[in-house]
Amino acid sequence: MAFNFFINLSYMVGAIAFVWGLRLLSSPDSARRGNIIAGLGMGVAIIATMIIPLTGASNNYPWIFGALLIGGIAGTLAAKRVQMTAMPQMVSIFNGLGGACAVVLAMAEMVHFYDGTKTMDGAEMSTVLFTLLIGGVAFTGSMLAYGKLEGLIDDRKVTFPKHNIVNLVMLAVALVMAGFLYIEGIEAGLPLAIAFMVLTLIYGFSFVAPIGGADMPVVISLLNSFTGLSAAAAGILYDSQFMLVGGILVGASGTILTVLMCNAMNRSLLNVLIGNFGGGGTSAALASGDQVVREVTLNDAAIQLYYSQSVVFVPGYGLAVAQAQKVCKEVDDILSKNGVDVKYAIHPVAGRMPGHMNVLLAEADVPYPKLLDLEDANAALANADVAIIVGANDVVNPAAEDDPGSPIYGMPVLRVWEAKTVIVLKRSMRAGYAGIENPLFFHNRTRMLFGDAKDTLSNLTSELKTL
Ligand code: TAP
Repeated sequence: MAFNFFINLSYMVGAIAFVWGLRLLSSPDSARRGNIIAGLGMGVAIIATMIIPLTGASNNYPWIFGALLIGGIAGTLAAKRVQMTAMPQMVSIFNGLGGACAVVLAMAEMVHFYDGTKTMDGAEMSTVLFTLLIGGVAFTGSMLAYGKLEGLIDDRKVTFPKHNIVNLVMLAVALVMAGFLYIEGIEAGLPLAIAFMVLTLIYGFSFVAPIGGADMPVVISLLNSFTGLSAAAAGILYDSQFMLVGGILVGASGTILTVLMCNAMNRSLLNVLIGNFGGGGTSAALASGDQVVREVTLNDAAIQLYYSQSVVFVPGYGLAVAQAQKVCKEVDDILSKNGVDVKYAIHPVAGRMPGHMNVLLAEADVPYPKLLDLEDANAALANADVAIIVGANDVVNPAAEDDPGSPIYGMPVLRVWEAKTVIVLKRSMRAGYAGIENPLFFHNRTRMLFGDAKDTLSNLTSELKTL
């Protein structure tokens, strides 16, 4: 009795640590602490689970410790080796493996059901089927998302015309199979259950295949919420309140993030899921004429910045690649000392993960009040002397506003072209994540400053110091 109380108390401590950790994760200042607290909560719950004595069965310690060792080593190596820029890919893999765990747990239940070691009522059977479907989609969908983010898989090679109709048919077949398994139970046979699992895995892959380009952030957070839901369902199957709470927290936060991402992209979820992405399209603005690229020298750029009244930095994925956040802050310090009003325009999907720019700039000690969200940033850009774009591309693409044929048409963007001058720091004329051209680079107010963002900003610092 006292032992059970101890176990339940440990689970409660673990669940409180999750909620507390999640709370702290909402700000870059406290996020590190939040991560540690949530990790400790998970540790407490794992230890409590391992010491529960099982009646009539062994605790399988060699298997558990073997798996813990392999998982622990893989997790530690990944945390140490993976670069900040590859973090979204790592999150995708970990997320997918969570879905795979839920599939394995549900399948184990199914096997016990068919070999007669377990009975299952309708509620349990529907929970197993739900876990298989959602967990399977989260697993293979996340693996494909990983391949796309890592650049291993070309978006366009895994999709075809009317792909969404094929997906709808596949989903309908899966639901019919699930209905049959639910009604027939043991009579339907294990092979049908396995076929259902395989179909959900194929469906997960196929579900993510037609989504790409700038819509990827939405699908990644959606898959995140699927993993949470499948873990919560597995928690119901295994009567683990802790797993249920953890799964619900992941599912709920993933769902909230999905809604926020859709709002940021000005799209409905349905539109993201069934509206095929384009890519490679040339915007009307670009096709219709002026394609002159105007460059600026370092010296001229330094003079323009130094004698401005207001400057808005627009960071993007290139800032993360170049790790240019600290040198960006150095330029900010020099300008601010000269009386320039310096601000940062933060687009909600800049970079490759939610809050990517906020984290990088917090690391460089940029004061939080200098960071403007989309709406405030656009107001500031309209009055800015210089908008300096540091490795951003899709989030400053005017085609989102003026080219109905563009795959990102309708996505709110930072209206940098309203500033008096636009200076773009990037290495080449290559496209950004969505794979589309950016007419901004040919705009008559735009000046290109080619090179790695960190090198360019350091050289700019030296130039500014001579003024
Ligand atoms: P992107 O559109 O991807 O553009 C980044 C630009 O940075 C590239 O054009 C690249 O041009 C430049 N760059 C790369 N390395 C650089 C370096 N070392 N120095 C200077 N420039 C460098 O980035 P964005 O504007 O931040 O937009 C984000 C995109 O990712 C959106 O399409 C978004 O939907 C998508 N996405 C976002 C997320 C989340 S949640 N944030 C997740 C998945 C996908 P060069 O190669 O010419 O240098």
